[in-house]
Amino acid sequence: MNTNILFILTGSIAGFKACEVISQLVQRGHGVRTVATKAALQFVGPATLEGLTGSAVMTDLFAPGAALEHINLTRWADVIIVCPATANTINRLAAGLADDLAGSLFLAHDRKKPFLIAPAMNPAMWSHPATVAAVDRLKQWGVCFLPVGEGRTACGEVGEGRLAEPMEIVAAVEASLAKPVKRLRVLVTSGGTSEPIDGVRVLTNTSTGRTGADLASYLARQGHEVVLLRARPAAIAEATVREETFSSFAELAAALKRLLSGDHFDAVVHAAAVSDFGVEAVVSAGVVHQPGGAKMESGPEPVTLRLCALPKLVDSLRSQSRNRQLTVVAFKLTAGAAPAAVSAAVATLLKRSSADFVVHNDLADRGSGGDFPASIYRRDGAAEVRCATRRDLAVALEQLLVAGAQPVG
Ligand SMILES: Cc1cc2nc3c(=O)[nH]c(=O)nc-3n(C[C@H](O)[C@H](O)[C@H](O)COP(=O)(O)O)c2cc1C
Repeated sequence: MNTNILFILTGSIAGFKACEVISQLVQRGHGVRTVATKAALQFVGPATLEGLTGSAVMTDLFAPGAALEHINLTRWADVIIVCPATANTINRLAAGLADDLAGSLFLAHDRKKPFLIAPAMNPAMWSHPATVAAVDRLKQWGVCFLPVGEGRTACGEVGEGRLAEPMEIVAAVEASLAKPVKRLRVLVTSGGTSEPIDGVRVLTNTSTGRTGADLASYLARQGHEVVLLRARPAAIAEATVREETFSSFAELAAALKRLLSGDHFDAVVHAAAVSDFGVEAVVSAGVVHQPGGAKMESGPEPVTLRLCALPKLVDSLRSQSRNRQLTVVAFKLTAGAAPAAVSAAVATLLKRSSADFVVHNDLADRGSGGDFPASIYRRDGAAEVRCATRRDLAVALEQLLVAGAQPVG
């Protein structure tokens, strides 16, 4: 791949795992140079880092003969990663402090290039409001955070804060470097909506959000800029995907409108399982309750839900979008439908929504694991593309989107 990776280590016990990441990156043909804070060198020796990369580790902002390294290194690097990133360094970077080499590199780096952070700390440090606020701030500045792992940390506490696994970190670094033929901005929706019945109960469906999350992760790995609008709770995507969440139909509709009218997207992959019905009223013992109000007490009386049909969000995606050439991918799920019924359902959806593609799958065809037999039907009438797994679907859709979409800028 022949890319330059600037690898900044800070003072965490997870430093030994970072050595494995560096070793993998070097073996995969990347040029790696390391910077270590003073604390990092308490955990990993300079000889290890030099042995792994072939270059001396840099630690000192004022090292004789290397006084401008914080500028030169940022020019040299295609990507910068802080791994492991301590609570201290994350908070310092969020404050814009530059009194050491790591802080100076952060402020001096070219913000058009990716800057990744792989945190590692104990659960209390990770959940401390100072760290939470620092992470939010850095994300707003475009820094990409790798997800932390959950489990037993070195201090014996159990919770979130472990460094991501080495191969996940390698994958995230390479994903940040991927340069597709055309870099698209894609909005993916996923998961099922939850329609409030009362203050605690909802009407929802069995969607896991996995298809949308997998598609979003794959597109991001191919170097596209992806926003995943996913249901709470639903499967999450990889670190390089920006996420927003929704719960109800109303929240999803509002988020779609805001995102599509506010930003230029080249394509929307609308994989969310949106409720066809909303709760209009809840009738109990002759009393009509508005949905989403206080928790209703349970009792022997029957409860009647009055449902109303909800509009089809997929029909208005293009008209809401700043990009009137938006490529729209709609999804159609059937349950044990005969081929003629499938064709009719797909044709109706293509006509009604003016989607460019419809991904059809039938509940009866689904197996376990990664199986996801689906077909992509095309508005232009070309033969459908058959896919056996979610991975096949992601590969085929990416090719269709790149061939069809006209990105700006
Ligand atoms: C044995 C040991 C393990 C540590 N592990 C971590 C850690 O995993 N994450 C963390 O945020 N701090 C950890 N610390 C504390 C940091 O090393 C300390 O905050 C240090 O000042 C960080 O400096 P730096 O961010 O400049 O590297 C550890 C300290 C010790 C003594």
